[in-house]
Amino acid sequence: MTQTRIGLLGLGGYVPERIMTNDEWTQYVDTSDEWITTRTGIKRRRLAADHETTADLAVAAAEGALADAKITPGEIDEIIVASDTPEVYTPDTASFVQQRLGAGEIPAYDLAGSGCAGFVLGLDIARSRVRDGDRRVLVIGVELLTRLMSWRDRNTCVLFGDAAGAAVVGAGSEAAEILAATAGTDGSRGDILIAEVGGTRSPFNIERARLGLHQWIVMKGREVFKEATSRMCAAANEVLTQASIDIEDVALVVPHQANLRIIQATGKALGVPAEKVFVNVQEYGNTGSASVPLALWEARQQGRISAGDLVLLTSFGAGFHWAAMLLRF
Ligand code: ACO
Repeated sequence: MTQTRIGLLGLGGYVPERIMTNDEWTQYVDTSDEWITTRTGIKRRRLAADHETTADLAVAAAEGALADAKITPGEIDEIIVASDTPEVYTPDTASFVQQRLGAGEIPAYDLAGSGCAGFVLGLDIARSRVRDGDRRVLVIGVELLTRLMSWRDRNTCVLFGDAAGAAVVGAGSEAAEILAATAGTDGSRGDILIAEVGGTRSPFNIERARLGLHQWIVMKGREVFKEATSRMCAAANEVLTQASIDIEDVALVVPHQANLRIIQATGKALGVPAEKVFVNVQEYGNTGSASVPLALWEARQQGRISAGDLVLLTSFGAGFHWAAMLLRF
């Protein structure tokens, strides 16, 4: 008898049409294509149109995932949205997505401020919800980071882009099975990547807005770099150990796409050849919680994943959070 697999039933992704090249950034800040390319590997990123919002991108990616899973919105039992750039502060983006999709009156909630690790953490939560009640859970990672960041801070603005990715998690013989998952947090490192203004600690006021602090991400780049590499690597190794799988047997590693040098350092530390590490950061920049689902969706579209392949997801983000997952397609 075939055992029911719990895993990914469908994948979707969406990127806005507008492409912004590195050269265009020279109109706004003192930078160059050469600096951005050598330090980050990023060549371009996508920008949401003025009329587009977080819910628009989320719904577009979700519709793709539902079509891929061959289910209707009415057949979803729960929605999880991972995002640091919500539609509004309250209610959460998941409420807008539930209404826009025409889903039932189901639980829908955000993993807000979960950083770039939010989507993989969402998949892990979805897996336990499916185990608990045979549900179908829609998990979305979505970000309009170009609206949160300052367009005058060259330390951060050149890094980010807008996108969304989604997956339906459920039980089925065709599911890309979740073999193992892990997630963790070190809140003592919260200060290395933080958008400080706008919450209760530093509420919005005219003075702060005048200084542009409502759009200000404080980032200690080098510290983020070090934490990112070691945490993504440790999380990846942990899921391999949990599943008793050797890294040599993994067909593809899909890491969070923050920076090419972080991706390469992680691949090297894991002992994976470059051709087994998926990279699309050159096209989209860092798209936060959308980065892993977008990369996974693209990897499958490009034929980089075949039936039976072991695929390793690993991610890190503000918090400081990390999460990894091993899948068998
Ligand atoms: N163009 C030109 N110069 C710049 C730019 C830019 N866009 N940004 C910074 N610089 C300058 C700085 O002002 C500084 O100049 P100074 O030395 O005169 O003060 C210099 O470049 C900084 O150089 P380095 O510190 O050597 O730069 P580094 O090699 O560390 O690269 C970077 C910086 C790309 C930010 C790197 O530290 C990094 O990738 N860190 C991780 C970033 C990241 O992944 N963040 C995650 C975001 S959110 C998430 O994914 C969870």
